[in-house]
Formats: sequence, structure tokens, C-alpha cells
Amino acid sequence: MRVAVIGAGYVGLVSGACFAEMGHEVVCLDKDPARVASLLGGRVPIYEPGLDEMVRANVQVGRLSFSTDLAPAVRDAEVVLIAVGTPARHSDGRADLSYVYGAAREIAEAVAGYTVIVTKSTVPVGTGDAIERIIRRHRPEARVAVVSNPEFLREGAAIGDFMEPDRVVVGTEDSRARAVMAELYRPLAERGAPVLMTGRRTSELIKYTANAFLAMKITFINEIADLCESVHADIADVADGVGLDSRIGARFLQAGPGYGGSCFPKDTLALLRTAQDYGVSLRLVEDTVSVNDARKRAMARKVIEALGGSVEGLTVAVLGLTFKPDTDDMREAPSLSLIDALQRGGARIHAHDPAGMEQARQHLEDVAFFADPYRCAAGADAVVLMTEWQALCSLDLALLREAMAGVVFVDLRNAYPEEQLLRHGFFVSGIGSAP
Ligand code: NAD
Ligand code: UGA
Repeated sequence: MRVAVIGAGYVGLVSGACFAEMGHEVVCLDKDPARVASLLGGRVPIYEPGLDEMVRANVQVGRLSFSTDLAPAVRDAEVVLIAVGTPARHSDGRADLSYVYGAAREIAEAVAGYTVIVTKSTVPVGTGDAIERIIRRHRPEARVAVVSNPEFLREGAAIGDFMEPDRVVVGTEDSRARAVMAELYRPLAERGAPVLMTGRRTSELIKYTANAFLAMKITFINEIADLCESVHADIADVADGVGLDSRIGARFLQAGPGYGGSCFPKDTLALLRTAQDYGVSLRLVEDTVSVNDARKRAMARKVIEALGGSVEGLTVAVLGLTFKPDTDDMREAPSLSLIDALQRGGARIHAHDPAGMEQARQHLEDVAFFADPYRCAAGADAVVLMTEWQALCSLDLALLREAMAGVVFVDLRNAYPEEQLLRHGFFVSGIGSAP
């Protein structure tokens, strides 16, 4: 099938490359000329394991191409995916739909022949209706169906999540569009991916419900981790012990510094605004948001306490800056709140991340960045392990300890066994176990 993808960001690029890999003919479009130039020059502008190779292979065989010129690609496409950003609006936390509506207007002007317009971006209930209205207003004669097809991939594991999804959700009331979507996903369905066909508004709500539930699951285990610290229980074993219950499941029970990223924070807020609009209260989601915000701020207190009550004039080395490993994405990373609070307390910050430093520089001021974790720790009074990159979970602890001025190791991901850190002479503060 001929597919046009609008927005060559994390989701657009991964979706585009994966649909090409499945055999479709895909054009990825972005209005950012630098991004498209980079892709045309063979450089994938985001860090996502496996994406480089997949993009290169599909460009080579002519199934994947890039352009800033939306009109011809949309005109020729049977399926047009909208994969632009829907960030939280600063004013009220609602999803900013200006990019989605902008894309819809551009599609309306270009579309020719029967076209299925697919919203891959995460959008509030009713957005599909609004896109349809925009298209009908601009081009009353256009033969289009607007379909919701939310994306559930995780950054850092995006290719695997896309190619072997737990499910594909398609929301449309239009039977012809349903057949087109079944054909689009046929290669995955043939390999066993469940495809759930439902209504458009239901599909839009499924996406927010899934993200809110996962955010709540993480927040729940984080609260239990706090209790573990008080009652001298061990959070890793508690998580294992409950996760083995197949009704609960072991995944997303890793206690940490609070969830971050470009999606959970904004999507939980947007869901709350939708509920508010309809006079419904989602108290569990409200609490999830406020408990997680408070947790991110509380992580600095952990560091301050480990350093004896003050960080004034001390140096803290933060290892790992991105919101999770295997991505360069710094959006809503818990490291940002931690560093801000430590700087307010008078600490000097050293920082290292395997892939996120370029983005981190745009978010952080007065931070000394180091390409090497041991240099980052040199002279530091404390090291904080913030993101569980593989490389940061297998450090030479003797070397690290030797480089530091102090002995405090704050392991916010419980990446190292406590005994191992103690053996190397560290004072250890972790998550969910008594100090
Ligand atoms: P992103 O910011 O990485 O990429 C969006 C891209 O769209 C940018 O490159 C921007 O230049 C481009 N763009 C905006 N308007 C355009 C237009 N009119 N024409 C062409 N290009 C345009 O965003 P993302 O992280 O890929 O997220 C996209 C959507 O997918 C969001 O709604 C998000 O909630 C959802 N989502 C993201 C993830 C994730 O892991 N990042 C996972 C699932 C769903
Ligand atoms: C999340 C969802 O997992 C995806 O299904 C969804 O498609 C995506 O949001 C989205 O809508 O954009 P992502 O944010 O990329 O994916 O990454 P996650 O692996 O979910 O991690 C999010 C945050 O939760 C990270 O800060 C991570 O450290 C934290 N987390 C995750 C935990 O603290 N504990 C866990 O057990 C799992």
C-alpha cells in the first residue's frame, strides 16, 4: 500500500520504517527542513536502537523516502498517518492539538481519491470528529475516512513494540476504512498480533486509559517502596511477589524516581481535562499525577539526606539524564527536577549520559557535562544513578570510588546489589529498602 506519514519524530519515523519493512511504500514527511535533510543525508536524527539499520535498508530498496513536500505524497497515498506532537498546553494541561489540526488542513488541501486518514498521535476523545469536520469544511467533496489508530510503542524498545505489538487498536465506524486498516496491518496480524476493531471515540480513549493505568501502576509500586523503607522490607522482592500473580503481572513494577517522558505526564493531564469537561472525576488519576510530581521533587531530599543534610558547596555527579535508557529524549526527565532542586540547595552538578547530553544541554544550565562516567564522578561528594543505561549498571565500582572525593552512592534505580556497593566502601541510599 502507499502510505504517507506526517511527522518524522519518534512515532512517525518508527511507524514509517516499520510499515516499509512490512512491504508498504512509505513517504515520511516533516515540516522541519533540517530533520528531513538529515534523513535524506542518511542520518537518523533520533537515538532509537535498530532504527538506523531499518531506515537504511528500506531506503536502499526504495520502499522508504523523506520529504518536506506534503501535497504530492498525500495525493498519491491510500493511507495518510498523522504522527505529529500533541504536547501539554502550558496554560491548562490540555493536549495542544494545533499540530494535528494544522496537518488536517494541509491534508484537506492535497487529498485526492478515497483516502484513509489515520490519527497515530495521541489525541483526546472527539479529535477524530474534529479532524473530519476540518476536512469536510475545506474540501466538502473529498472522499475520506478518519480513523483512530493509537500507538503503544515505548521509546528505546520502539521497533520491537511496533513489529510485535500486544495489540493493534483501530477505531472507525466506516467499513471500507476498516478493510483498508486490516490490509495495512495484515503482515502483523498474520504473525499473530491481535487487531481490535472498535469505534473511533473508544479507540481514542483506550490509548489514554492504557497510559494512565501504567502510570498508576508505577506510582503504586513507588508508594509501596516508600513504605518498605519504613518497615524494613525489600521492594524488589515485594514487586516479584506480587508480579508473579498473573492478574497483576510483573512488568511496570520497577520502583524508581517517578515516571517521566513525553507521554505519561502529558497524557494523564489531558485525560483529567477530558474527564473534567464531561463532569466526571478520575480521582485515581488525579492522585497519580500529584504523587508522581511530589516524588520527583523528593528524590533531591534523598541525596541531601545522604550527604548529611546539606549540599551547599558540594559536588553531585548525576549518571544518566534521559527519562529512561536507550533514548536521547529528555522530555519530563526526572533528572531535570533532581538537578534543579540540588542546584537550589547550592550543589555543583556534574552530569553524564550515554546519548542524551545534546538534548540535556538545551534543558540545563550551569552543569558540567562529561563524556565519560568516571570523569564525571571525579571529585564528586556523591554519585546519583538516575537512569539505568546498561553501561551505567556495570561500572567498575572500585574505579568510581577512587575517582570520587566522597563515598555517597544514591541508586535511584536499584541497579546495583547493596552488598556490592557497601563492599566498595560506599554509603548507599537506594529505593525501597531501609538505609
Ligand atoms: P515528536 O515531537 O518526536 O515528532 C513530531 C514531528 O512532527 C516533529 O518532527 C515535527 O516537526 C513534525 N510536525 C509537526 N507538525 C507537522 C506538519 N504539519 N507537517 C509535517 N510535520 C509536522 O513527537 P513524537 O514523540 O513522535 O509523538 C508524536 C505523537 O505520538 C504524540 O501525540 C505522542 O503522544 C504520540 N506517542 C508518542 C510515543 C513516544 O514514545 N514518543 C509513543 C506513543 C504515542
Ligand atoms: C510509554 C508507554 O509505555 C507506551 O506504551 C506508550 O506508547 C508511550 O508511553 C506513549 O504513549 O508515548 P515511554 O514513555 O516511551 O512509553 O517509556 P516507558 O518504558 O513506559 O517509561 C516511562 C517512564 O516510566 C520512565 O520514566 C520509566 O523510567 C518509568 N518506569 C517504567 C518506571 O519507573 N518503572 C517501571 O516499571 C516502568
